[in-house]
Amino acid sequence: MDEVTISGLTKNFGDLVAVDHMDLNIPEGTIFGLLGPNGAGKSTTTRLLSTLLRPTEGTAMVGGFDIIEEPVHVREITGVLPEESNHTIYGTLTAYENLQYFARLYDVPEEEIDERIEELLTFMALWDRKDDKAGELSTGNRQRLALCRAILHRPRVLLLDEPTSALDPIAAKRVRELILSLSQKFKQTFFINSHNLPEVQRVCDQIAIIDEGKVLLHGSTQELRSKLLAKQRFRIRIVGDIENASSIAKSMNFVEEVNNEIDSIIVTIEDPTENNSSLMQSLLSQGIKIVEFAEEEATLEDLYLEVVKGGDA
Ligand SMILES: Nc1ncnc2c1ncn2[C@@H]1O[C@H](COP(=O)(O)OP(=O)(O)OP(=O)(O)O)[C@@H](O)[C@H]1O
Ligand SMILES: [Mg+2]
Repeated sequence: MDEVTISGLTKNFGDLVAVDHMDLNIPEGTIFGLLGPNGAGKSTTTRLLSTLLRPTEGTAMVGGFDIIEEPVHVREITGVLPEESNHTIYGTLTAYENLQYFARLYDVPEEEIDERIEELLTFMALWDRKDDKAGELSTGNRQRLALCRAILHRPRVLLLDEPTSALDPIAAKRVRELILSLSQKFKQTFFINSHNLPEVQRVCDQIAIIDEGKVLLHGSTQELRSKLLAKQRFRIRIVGDIENASSIAKSMNFVEEVNNEIDSIIVTIEDPTENNSSLMQSLLSQGIKIVEFAEEEATLEDLYLEVVKGGDA
């Protein structure tokens, strides 16, 4: 069953079409990633789904409730981390008081409140900040607190707008672990906006790429990745002169593209089954030591550039 169904969803700001007849279905229990460049319409989509904005046209169902007809029910079953995480926490209350307040607002059983708060704050490495005023926390710590607040009441659907944008790498990793463990334990549905492709690749089951408010692509992360495997790229890691290896590769007529990295060249090869051994021989015969010759897996980054920029990136 689909937990989020977006149908012809459109939001205009004057002449600007921020979300343009968007259709998307997200099955229950999915960790879904919405990717797109700045201004693509990700946050507007989240604001529409969380009933902060009203669509110009179309609608969406979240957990079986219509965002236009039943906004109160939608709010009851969702947890939202907005782009500006400040907007959901009170600066004059402490971190602990913020969570206590929201736990009561969302009817978390009284006897579970303290335990849940301690568990979450400890996991997010915020426990020693529990008595600090939220308004005096660093940006990253405020984002962590806002995330705790979004998940505290164990909502069925989580709408997270760039949950790791302000976080250091260790905190970002914790958030990914948290999302994966919540998803396993409670089978919640996650709708995550992000620019961070490797991150999305690590946590999301499904992704959609949008630009100018339109969905350009939607599928399982695996499907989308395999679309690009046909690219025939290989990483050749060598010991020695990268420039020399690179110019040898460029001189072969079946080599389409060569990119240099610190210890490797990445080559795109036409008909690799036929030609890989010739390239290898050429390199070896000119004294290049090859440490690794391996197929280079396509990344969502490739896909993103290809889709958003129409393949000319
Ligand atoms: N309240 C508003 N009034 C007018 N225009 C708006 C408003 N909110 C968003 N927009 C415009 O709508 C478009 C989509 O914005 P949105 O914030 O949804 O993009 P985004 O994909 O979240 O971008 P980013 O990656 O920068 O967060 C942009 O052109 C933006 O300027
Ligand atoms: Mg945004």
